Amino acid sequence: MANDSFSALKEKILRKKIKIAVVGLGYVGLPLALEFAKKGFSVLGIDVDCDRIECIKKKQSYISDVSDGELRKVISCGRFSAINDFRAIKESDCIIICVPTPLKRKYNPDISYIKQAVKAISKNIRKVSLVILESTTYPGTTQEVILPLFEEQRLKHNRDFYLCFSPERIDPGNKNYPVNKIPKIIGGVSKEATALAGLVYKNIIEKVVLVSSARVAEAVKLLENTFRLINIGLIDELAMMAHKMKIDIWEVIDAAKTKPFGFMPFYPSGGCGGHCIPKDPLYLYWKAKKFGFESRFIKLASDIITFMPEYVVERLQMALKEKGIPLKKAKILVMGVTYKKDIKDLRKSPSLDIINILQKRNVKVAYFDPLIPYLKLNNINLKSIELTKDKLNKFDCVVIATDHSSVDYGFILKNSRFIFDTRNAYRGIKSSKVIRL
Ligand SMILES: NC(=O)c1ccc[n+]([C@@H]2O[C@H](COP(=O)([O-])OP(=O)(O)OC[C@H]3O[C@@H](n4cnc5c(N)ncnc54)[C@H](O)[C@@H]3O)[C@@H](O)[C@H]2O)c1
Repeated sequence: MANDSFSALKEKILRKKIKIAVVGLGYVGLPLALEFAKKGFSVLGIDVDCDRIECIKKKQSYISDVSDGELRKVISCGRFSAINDFRAIKESDCIIICVPTPLKRKYNPDISYIKQAVKAISKNIRKVSLVILESTTYPGTTQEVILPLFEEQRLKHNRDFYLCFSPERIDPGNKNYPVNKIPKIIGGVSKEATALAGLVYKNIIEKVVLVSSARVAEAVKLLENTFRLINIGLIDELAMMAHKMKIDIWEVIDAAKTKPFGFMPFYPSGGCGGHCIPKDPLYLYWKAKKFGFESRFIKLASDIITFMPEYVVERLQMALKEKGIPLKKAKILVMGVTYKKDIKDLRKSPSLDIINILQKRNVKVAYFDPLIPYLKLNNINLKSIELTKDKLNKFDCVVIATDHSSVDYGFILKNSRFIFDTRNAYRGIKSSKVIRL
């Protein structure tokens, strides 16, 4: 039966009188905060990164999917502001958490960012509030970890606060599916919490999908990303197999995808990066182990994907050897260092692994990336080269690691000696200068 606090909060949401706080203003949090602000809500962003707060104050976006213009608009009309002080949470009725969930070691989740954020929120939360976790995590986190942290502050669920999990499903850079076009999964610790979150998200998202619990919502996100990891691992393995069998895997995929049902194309590459696919399924793997279950699929796909940068270097070495150039004497240009095309995100980028492997083998390696002028991480300290005819011609091989749309691949083909294309940037082009993964 609905109680007074539920009815009061519901009424406030329906009248659009709630204030929203978004905790963690990264690839997920910043676009989400703007989406609510654009729909007329008063939104407060909270982040521990003072540089990000400063950027927002200067109305400068640091996320590819958010333009300075969009940011300027919502800040100027007073609907969005950002701060690094959790005391400001008191002003908010709905708090959405979008902090990172990395791995500690290869198979171990690190939910310390969630815990830190929740501890700070629970000390400053106003009664009555709705709290929603959007960070990807293992099934059970919301109920088993977050709920007790609020209860430690003598807050009672379904009376003082309502708690939900609602995974973010965005695909950065994908213009066909902005935040508002991706159905929102919501699973609460109680049905009241689920219902309240559903009402909140309906303001910005076309379709909301309510599920029976937070655990189910957590598992939905991990199913989606595990599906991707396993299919990427599978196609990477098939690419290695096809190479041995002298079959063009790209042509095979293009033909297979003409089947109108039962097949979905995935493409091989030199590895899989970003803050989601390489690590989210390992959250599930880790949690399942607590139940005495080891997922062989997840581990295998993860191992294959992790091996891909090594495989790229092996293939590069073989190809150069055929030309009489030992790898350690070669000059290599890596094209594209972000983990994905047209996105300024370097997290877990396989290009960085490829550069690292080459540098460890004392190979002279340079890079070009229109989005990343300097690289200063993972022991790499390089500046993107200028892409001129003379410079290109000095390299023994150009490795297309990430195929940004703004790059002139015709120019590269014309002026390079040899190209190893791991992304099929030269689809349909037959040239003795190009080999493909
Ligand atoms: N990037 C994606 O494409 C994507 C897509 C779907 C889901 N996710 C998930 O969403 C979550 C966030 O990912 P992201 O890519 O936005 O990460 P991000 O690193 O871009 O942003 C996270 C932000 O949280 C801030 N932060 C860290 N600890 C904090 C704390 N205690 N309090 C306040 N702020 C804090 C960081 O400073 C950073 O600005 C992760 O769980 C991720 O797996 C990401």
